[in-house]
Amino acid sequence: MDKYVVFGNPIEQSKSPFIHTLFARQTGQVMTYQAQWVALDGFTAAADTFFAEGGRGCNITVPFKEQAFTYADQLTERARLAGAVNTLKLLDDGVVLGDNTDGEGLVQDLLQHGVSLADKRILLIGAGGAARGVILPLLAQQPAGLVIANRTAEKAEQLATTFASHGRIAALALDQLDGERFDIIINSTSASLSQQLPGIPATLIQPETVCYDMVYGTGMTTFNAWAKALGARVVMDGLGMLVGQAAESFMLWRGIRPGARQVQRELRRTLQ
Ligand code: ATR
Repeated sequence: MDKYVVFGNPIEQSKSPFIHTLFARQTGQVMTYQAQWVALDGFTAAADTFFAEGGRGCNITVPFKEQAFTYADQLTERARLAGAVNTLKLLDDGVVLGDNTDGEGLVQDLLQHGVSLADKRILLIGAGGAARGVILPLLAQQPAGLVIANRTAEKAEQLATTFASHGRIAALALDQLDGERFDIIINSTSASLSQQLPGIPATLIQPETVCYDMVYGTGMTTFNAWAKALGARVVMDGLGMLVGQAAESFMLWRGIRPGARQVQRELRRTLQ
C-alpha cells in the first residue's frame, strides 16, 4: 500500500492524518498516512529511511520546513521562493521533488468561500516564514496590489524586494497604514497565539473588509474577534488553509483533487 507521512516535532497535535485519511476515503485512494515524531537533528535520516522503505511522499511541519527545502533534489518555483518545503514527493525516476502548498491552500480557501483576489487590494501582516510562503500564490491571483506590513519594517521591505518581479507588491510600516484601504487583510503573524493583536490601525477594518487569520483554535482567534467587534462581516481562520494545503499535497501525490469543504466541517467539529 502507498505510504505517506507527516514529519514534525512536536507532532501529536497534527491534524494531517485525520485530513488525509478522509481525503483517501472520499476519493477511493488506497494509501496510508501517519504522523511521525522526528528528533530535532534527525530529519534527514528519517526522510532517507522513509523513502528507502518505499514511502511515496510526506508533509513536513515545524520545525523542519527549511531542512526539507535543502533535502529536496528539485523544487517547484513556489517552494523556491517560499524558502521552505511542506511537501515532498518521490518521482518515478527516484528524484525527490519539494513543493510548498501553503499559499495555494490559503488562496483556495478564500476562493471557495467566494472571496476573489483579482483586482483586490490585499494587506499581508507579518514578514516571517508564514508570510513568505503565501506571497507567490497571492500574486498569481493578480490583485490590484499586495502590501506587506510588519512590526520590524525592514523584513517587510526585504520580502517586497524579493518578490518585486512577480507582481504588484510593496512594503509599509505598521504606522504608515492609517488612511489606507484594503479589501482583504491577512494576518500571518503569530500574535493571536499569545492573545495579542498585530498592531494595525482599527480604521482599516470596514464592514466589507475580509479578515483572515492564518492561525486557528477552538474559538474565534484574537485578531478575528477584534475585527468582528469593529464591524467586519467576514472573518476566516486558518483551519481552511490547513485543509487547503493538504488538498494541494494530495493532488500532487495522487493526481486527484479532494473536496475540502466536508473535511473542513468535520475537522471543525473535532475542535469543539
Ligand atoms: P512564522 O514562520 O510563523 O511566520 P516567524 O518567522 O517567527 O514565524 O515570524 C513571526 C511573524 O509574526 C513576524 O512577522 C513577527 O514580527 P517581527 O518580524 O517584527 O518579529 C510577527 N509577530 C509575532 N508576534 C507579533 C506581535 N505581537 N505583534 C506584531 N507582530 C508579531
